Amino acid sequence: MVQARPGSLYFKLGELAKRIAFRSKWLNFLTRPRFPLFGMQPAQLAWLVNKMDDTRRENKKPGAIVEVGVGLGMTTVFLLEHMNLSQDTRPYYCIDTFGGFLEKDIAFEEKQRGKQRHEMEGRFAYNKKEVFESNLRKAGYSNHVVISADASTMDFSTIAPIDVMLLDVDLFLPTKAVLTQIMKCLNVRAYIMVDDCQPNSLWDGSDQAYNEFVQSQARPRVIVGTKGGVFEKI
Ligand SMILES: C[S@@+](CC[C@H](N)C(=O)[O-])C[C@H]1O[C@@H](n2cnc3c(N)ncnc32)[C@H](O)[C@@H]1O
Repeated sequence: MVQARPGSLYFKLGELAKRIAFRSKWLNFLTRPRFPLFGMQPAQLAWLVNKMDDTRRENKKPGAIVEVGVGLGMTTVFLLEHMNLSQDTRPYYCIDTFGGFLEKDIAFEEKQRGKQRHEMEGRFAYNKKEVFESNLRKAGYSNHVVISADASTMDFSTIAPIDVMLLDVDLFLPTKAVLTQIMKCLNVRAYIMVDDCQPNSLWDGSDQAYNEFVQSQARPRVIVGTKGGVFEKI
């Protein structure tokens, strides 16, 4: 966005417009602060940033940062901005179907987990790899790699070692499939966060897969914020 030079006529007009909007009953919605329109909570974002910094410091061999299920890219941009500001040059992998949920994954939620298919169908289908990639470029980032894939069949050893992974694909089958193969792809010190770990919710397939994973590793269930199920390999 073009910034007006402080002191210029455009700058003064801009500040006047903000003053009017901020104090107006009708225009206040334009300047009212609000948490951005996406699902990650401050505690989850802070945890991810900390773990990115910890692994950068502590792993001798640099690994990858991986986001599985990227949606619009709101969390992607937040974390890429942190990497830019801290001159962290590790690759950031963005993995998604870029077409929303897969039929086989929805069918499983419906038939095996008692969910309503209409609550899932069509969500995130707006996405397109080329547009997502171009949006990140326009936002000024360059160390990302965008991969269009079904998380269930993607071979994560091709991008190993992994330092930090945000696994955010909402449904049981892809979450379970990624967690089943992930241990052998992790760096010496590595961290995973599974989003949407909330029992009795539409997305509790993530929660079920997370619980099964931590049990299989004989580790406790640890929730960051109210829904970030985390696993630490230390
Ligand atoms: C909740 S959104 C991700 C939001 C994003 N992490 C954020 O914080 O803004 C879920 C994403 O998972 C993707 N997804 C669902 N099933 C998938 C699968 N089997 N493989 C890869 N991506 C999948 C969807 O296309 C969607 O973009």
